[in-house]
Amino acid sequence: MPEPPMTRRSFNHALTGAVLTVSLPPLVGCDNDADSAPHSTRKRAKSRLATAPFIVGPIEAYRQPGVYTDFWAESDVYLVSTGRSLIALAAVCTHLGCTVHWLNEQQAFQCPCHESRFDANGVNQPGAKAKTPLQRCALRLVNDPQTDQTLIEVDPTRLFTADGPPQRHFDHADARLELV
Ligand code: FES
Repeated sequence: MPEPPMTRRSFNHALTGAVLTVSLPPLVGCDNDADSAPHSTRKRAKSRLATAPFIVGPIEAYRQPGVYTDFWAESDVYLVSTGRSLIALAAVCTHLGCTVHWLNEQQAFQCPCHESRFDANGVNQPGAKAKTPLQRCALRLVNDPQTDQTLIEVDPTRLFTADGPPQRHFDHADARLELV
């Protein structure tokens, strides 16, 4: 069942968290935990990738380049902004499906199961057990009828891959949202 639109209060809360994650990475987000806790204690064999579209806020919340970890814990999705465009990475390792963690200091995602690494765009690193990049979720703009605001919706039920057919490939227009 689709999640209800965010209330203004919950949206503001999410927005504040999103900005803080980028501007003050040591204080919030999952990166701190991932760096300090033994990976074995963070291991999650089964991904909890969200099964329905969800709202992540307005375009303005993602103008600052960086990896936004706000929706990782709840939805297994990371948002990555270049400042001009946005992608939504599924935090699901492409080796055997464990949940990957963002390591802010290394600017990389790491899988706790067999240590595969991916760069900030989700591309698997040489030597990793994971042989393909992280999948990307569909993104689109929707109107919130309660606030008449234009918001970004992530759809983790529509995934795009580096080697998928045209309608499921990274290059598909729905796999990236232009922020300008
Ligand atoms: S499940 Fe991620 S490296 Fe094996």
